[in-house]
Amino acid sequence: MNQLEQRVADAIRRRGPVPFAEVMELALYDPDFGFYAAHGSAGRRGDFITSPEVGPLFGAVVANALDTWWRAAGSPDPFVVVEAGAGVGTLARSVLAAAPACAPTLRYVLVERSARLRERHGDYLALESAAHAFAPDREDDDYDQRALDLPTGPIVVSLSELPRVGAHVVIANELLDNLPVDLLEHSDGRTCEVRVGLDGERLSEVLIPSELSIETGREPVQNGGGVHDARSLGGRVVVIDYADTTASMASRPWADWLRTYRSHERGSDPLTDLGTQDITCEVAVDQLPPLTSNTAQADWLRAHGIDELVEEGRKVWAERAHLGDLEAMQARSRVSEAEALTDPTGLGAFRVLEWEPSKR
Ligand SMILES: C[S@@+](CC[C@H](N)C(=O)[O-])C[C@H]1O[C@@H](n2cnc3c(N)ncnc32)[C@H](O)[C@@H]1O
Repeated sequence: MNQLEQRVADAIRRRGPVPFAEVMELALYDPDFGFYAAHGSAGRRGDFITSPEVGPLFGAVVANALDTWWRAAGSPDPFVVVEAGAGVGTLARSVLAAAPACAPTLRYVLVERSARLRERHGDYLALESAAHAFAPDREDDDYDQRALDLPTGPIVVSLSELPRVGAHVVIANELLDNLPVDLLEHSDGRTCEVRVGLDGERLSEVLIPSELSIETGREPVQNGGGVHDARSLGGRVVVIDYADTTASMASRPWADWLRTYRSHERGSDPLTDLGTQDITCEVAVDQLPPLTSNTAQADWLRAHGIDELVEEGRKVWAERAHLGDLEAMQARSRVSEAEALTDPTGLGAFRVLEWEPSKR
């Protein structure tokens, strides 16, 4: 047993079998040995590739979307965008590199739980204090003269948790699948909770009768997946992730939707090698608050201009190929990035889940 497994085993000896969510929480976020605290991350040099890590094109499309929402909201200044589960900050870098029209008003807040990943936000982004990001709205009656002394945007801030202020947009790419889940299983005509107990010196599943009731198979319990917290900031919430419905997940082998990853390979059983591999659970959309829209990533990217950005890249490549400079190479890579981001058997099948701004 590694040190983290030992810690879980001690808890089981004291309290009996513990909920799966508690083990997933420690496996991913224990400050000493958790996967994200100790070594894991998205990226080519990390453990799995996410859309922002494919290249800058994804962020350029998100920048287009931010401009659309900014204009639709009457071009507010400041325009507060919160990115939850920001990882090393790659999406933020690409959004800012795309220089959206809203940039002078933009307050971009990266929220990342892992201190180790948060430390990397400052490598490529000029970070400022939270006080700058949350300056009063220029249109507010109580907006005061001191705010005029603030620098213009973009102002970029890095935080460990969601700010307690209003935001116009909260966006999260592949965050919800990393939030701890409990598990229920229909077994021998009754519903049980899948807990984690001990089989000798090994962590193992223990089925405990549950008061909840499910019809068949195994299901995750996601309880809103953190969307209520994001919605409490008042703005549009946009969540991008692999998703399914609870009923469909119950009909599939559970190891298909509760997966582990390490160094770009599928990992081992979630209860082994605790803390050394990512544990991820597909998002059950019916367990989230009622959605405004649920769109395949490929369609969402097209609606926000990916094809035009690729076309623009082709033209730049044609003009600059003979120079072979960075601008030419980036332009050319848009074609392959778009293929990966819209692949219907891969990232293109991810779901973009949206909630319209709630009434303040
Ligand atoms: C799969 S990674 C995705 C990173 C990035 N969004 C991307 O697409 O490359 C999920 C990230 O969410 C972070 N995370 C998990 N729970 C969080 C929370 N409650 N608040 C902020 N960040 C969280 C993890 O530490 C991890 O860096």
